Amino acid sequence: MKAIVQDRYGSPDALSRRETAQPRPSSGEVLVRVRAAAVNAYDWHVMRGAPYVLRLPARSLRGPRFRIRGRDVAGVVDAVGDGVTGLSPGDEVYGDTGESDGAFAEYVCVPAERLAPKQAKLTFEQAAAVPLAGSTALVGLRAAGRLQAGQHVRVNGASGGVGTFAVQIAKALSATVTAVCSMRNAELVTSLGADHVVDYTREDFTRGPSRYELVLDLVGNRSLADLRRVLTPRARSCFPAEACRAAAASSAQWA
Ligand SMILES: NC(=O)c1ccc[n+]([C@@H]2O[C@H](COP(=O)([O-])OP(=O)(O)OC[C@H]3O[C@@H](n4cnc5c(N)ncnc54)[C@H](OP(=O)(O)O)[C@@H]3O)[C@@H](O)[C@H]2O)c1
Repeated sequence: MKAIVQDRYGSPDALSRRETAQPRPSSGEVLVRVRAAAVNAYDWHVMRGAPYVLRLPARSLRGPRFRIRGRDVAGVVDAVGDGVTGLSPGDEVYGDTGESDGAFAEYVCVPAERLAPKQAKLTFEQAAAVPLAGSTALVGLRAAGRLQAGQHVRVNGASGGVGTFAVQIAKALSATVTAVCSMRNAELVTSLGADHVVDYTREDFTRGPSRYELVLDLVGNRSLADLRRVLTPRARSCFPAEACRAAAASSAQWA
């Protein structure tokens, strides 16, 4: 099969299109014919091997242990391994491939529990955009952030990959949302349901009077002390790393 492969860490020049062996599903895995894949910050970090600490879990200092990037996938089930129930060849699915060879290829093997049926109303491209960013937003707000209806959440980085999901999910949970982004994206976050929009280039939110039950901080450029200043006494702040860990443990909860 054709795949985008990398042997060493580096810029996008480290990626090359090559013929590689088509993977075969092991027990519990599903072979997916890839129709769409998405690019996330995760792929960018692993491609570059930066920050350096990422190279340690990858168990390789010179190049990634898994040579094909692309965490998010949408496609069609081609074959299933032993023990897989509920998915059959021809089913349309989407999911997060996890820490393994990814979806920048014609085929990818994915543990069955990391896949969900793709709703007919979603295109493959739309479905591939959901898993990692969507689950990070969902877990950040609901499991880690414990956001309740009627609470006020501030989403720092609301116009980005995770933030655009966070705004919509917070509104679906009946929260009030203050979205922080640049003004060029104000219309976008308003169209997604944000109640208030703050331009980070013009306003230092840590000096303002507003208080929040939750700050989902997807930017990480403020100190904990700064964030605490805008939180109500029993509030929480939540960072992507916390949401990521929880998301990794929660498999396909975005389905
Ligand atoms: N994408 C994923 O699937 C994923 C998964 C897990 C964790 N994460 C982590 O989550 C974080 C966000 O990722 P992302 O993919 O959503 O990033 P992204 O798409 O690049 O979005 C970045 C966001 O930050 C805003 N921003 C930039 N500078 C800012 C500042 N000084 N103050 C406030 N907001 C600022 C941008 O606003 P404007 O564009 O309007 O300027 C944009 O909304 C990263 O730390 C990433 O590693 C991402």
